[in-house]
Amino acid sequence: MLQEHVPDLGKFVEPDRVRREVYVDPRIFELEMQRIHERYWIYCGHESQVPKPGDYYTVQIGRQPMLMVRGRDGKVHVLYNRCPHRGNMMCGDRHGNAGEFFRCSYHAWTFQHDGALRSIPMMESGYAGTRYGKHNPDCSMKKAARVESYRGFVFASLAAEGPTLLEFLGESRIAFDDMCDRAPGGEVEIVPNCFRVVQHSNWKIFLENQLDALHPSVVHQSTGRAAMEVENLIRKQTGQAPLSYHMLSAFAAVTIEKWDGFQTLNYPYGHCILTGYMGLRPKDPDTLAYEKVMQKAYGKQRMEEILGVNIHHVLIYPGLSVQSALQQLRAVRPLGVDRTLTEIWHFRLKGAPEAIYRRSLAYYNLVNSPATLINADDLENFWKCHQGLSSDGGDWVSFGRHFGRDLEKPGRVETGPNMGTSEAPMRNQMKAWARYMRARA
Ligand code: FES
Ligand SMILES: [Fe+2]
Repeated sequence: MLQEHVPDLGKFVEPDRVRREVYVDPRIFELEMQRIHERYWIYCGHESQVPKPGDYYTVQIGRQPMLMVRGRDGKVHVLYNRCPHRGNMMCGDRHGNAGEFFRCSYHAWTFQHDGALRSIPMMESGYAGTRYGKHNPDCSMKKAARVESYRGFVFASLAAEGPTLLEFLGESRIAFDDMCDRAPGGEVEIVPNCFRVVQHSNWKIFLENQLDALHPSVVHQSTGRAAMEVENLIRKQTGQAPLSYHMLSAFAAVTIEKWDGFQTLNYPYGHCILTGYMGLRPKDPDTLAYEKVMQKAYGKQRMEEILGVNIHHVLIYPGLSVQSALQQLRAVRPLGVDRTLTEIWHFRLKGAPEAIYRRSLAYYNLVNSPATLINADDLENFWKCHQGLSSDGGDWVSFGRHFGRDLEKPGRVETGPNMGTSEAPMRNQMKAWARYMRARA
């Protein structure tokens, strides 16, 4: 129905530019929710968020409020957060434990953790001879069409048909392999709460920024320089400076030329990998202690392979940005054409020394939290972009940097040598977007 009002979607996207309506037209937003977010694999959370039977977390998938819940059989289910009786939201809290079963707060219908109807008050006298009862699937809580997890990271798709999670992730699954392999125990564990930031801009603006290697040296330069001054002062006074200063000063130290030395790898579903990692292999005592534990767990050769993975960022379209080497991820939940929720999570490496967790926490607080200058720098630009795109000042957004110089490889598009700041990831995301949007159910 909606597509009748949005004719010729193909005209919005050209290989090196897109129309501004893609970011600001509410009708296009609705269509994106139907054809992308409510159809493909969306990250729900990590299995360790719901360790015990009845534990649940609410999660937004497209326009749908959902629940991720651990069943008594140990399985993780993803259900619509809605009572089939009269539509009451089942869980009003963000997370909690449902107990032995879900119980609706309105008329006390109860449901198993997998959503199956368990009881209705006075079911026999109230419903005998009607179409309502356990035999009718419409009386159970509706499930997400498909749920799969990869190394503890749970995804759901609201469409019955489509690629499997592994097919969809493809090479981008390295985000989870890299994060988990860095744990001596081979697993990570959620730190059970996250920062939430509502951005006043379209969801795609955030995603495009994640692999925009040109912006850090511009946008975050002032923050980086200020940190560098303090870092130098501390080093002068004490002979060394805490690694946490380096996390910020790197934004000043890594110049545009250096970012050009990184590379992006772009994949068909819109996923992208940015290689290069600013902390790479520090040689401080905490890292050395960690390497010792890693070597014991994996042996020297495998440890070298694991710690040698050199990835700064993995973007899993359309809603996840992972920094595996620092055990962080950001989940992107579009709320409206100009409202985007980001959830910023971080993880513990199972079996790693506490100092390594502290390092992840420092990065989380210093770079990704709402309190940091880095995040504030970005948010201001996102809002300003959305404002500019809402105006009649121009019709197009350009993604022309290094256009025509990408290297087509089997199954991916790479940026050429010294073209790390190419706008190839944005071109790739919009190419995937156009393909998603054209495909009708
Ligand atoms: S709305 Fe849930 S039991 Fe009535
Ligand atoms: Fe940034």
